[in-house]
Amino acid sequence: MRSRTVLDAVRFGGQTPFYPGIPRDLSEIGVTNGLVHIRNDQRKATMLHSALLNVMIKAARQAARTLKRDFGEVEHLQVSLKGPANFVSAADHRAERILREELAKARPGYGFLGEEGGLTEGTDKTHTWIVDPLDGTTNFLHSIPQFAISIALQRDEMIVAGLVYNPATDELFTAERGKGAFLNDQRLRVAARQRLADAVVSCPLPHRGRGDLALGIRELAAAQPQVAGLRRFGAAALDFAWIAAGRIDGYWERDLSPWDMAAGLLLVREAGGFVTDLDGGDAMLSTGHVVAGNEAMHRELLAVLKQAAKG
Ligand code: IPD
Ligand code: CA
Ligand code: CA
Repeated sequence: MRSRTVLDAVRFGGQTPFYPGIPRDLSEIGVTNGLVHIRNDQRKATMLHSALLNVMIKAARQAARTLKRDFGEVEHLQVSLKGPANFVSAADHRAERILREELAKARPGYGFLGEEGGLTEGTDKTHTWIVDPLDGTTNFLHSIPQFAISIALQRDEMIVAGLVYNPATDELFTAERGKGAFLNDQRLRVAARQRLADAVVSCPLPHRGRGDLALGIRELAAAQPQVAGLRRFGAAALDFAWIAAGRIDGYWERDLSPWDMAAGLLLVREAGGFVTDLDGGDAMLSTGHVVAGNEAMHRELLAVLKQAAKG
């Protein structure tokens, strides 16, 4: 099939407008032992990102290098009596400093809101980076490879670009407003499942001493009999990214911070999903409460959680 389309392409003067996946530039086409093939699948290598995403990706990869090194070190520290806690908090700060510097180099006027260093206002009041240098700290601390760098760009009140990168798996999730969501170079779509009974849902478990445990338990008790399975992964940014990728069907959590959510909200929406606060409104970044899924899952889950919140 491929070789026929290539021959067609030759007939049509080097253009292959009809066949997705076949390069339009014939220099990408090779012939070995009489078989026509596409050299190195160059479509992947040449995926074009916008200038903005390139800036974000470069910064994330730079910070990821130190996080990956530190993650390797953490494995050794597990067995020491002192444990890796201080080391991880230093890793966190190091990664944020790199992100702050790299992003400022490329966009000097933008503001920066980071989990570790708080808000630095920029001269450009319309743009602010919202950054979690290490989401999933507890996982990182325990050598569990479910953690991520999260970078979002807010323009006025709107999130216009988001990136979530897991250095341990090299999975890079990106989205720009109106341009779709991607995992590496692959376009993402939320899962199509329509019944809660078939859904795998990521749920919160409040950290010791934080959040309303009684309410949390009521919500879990309400959701558990309705769904196929509940999961607690421990890195909010990746929960959103995994909904965008169709791996999980729903997610809710309370008391998140803007840097846990900003990039992820855009990923879900650009993958065709729905995200609201727990009243069904749009105040996730200010309330910290969030529920996400495809249209049906979001609707069903929101109804279950609202009912549970009534007590
Ligand atoms: C935490 C993770 C976790 C969520 C917590 C967050 P951190 O972020 O996203 O999944 O349940 O509420 O604080 O502290 O690991 O950056
Ligand atoms: Ca976080
Ligand atoms: Ca963090």
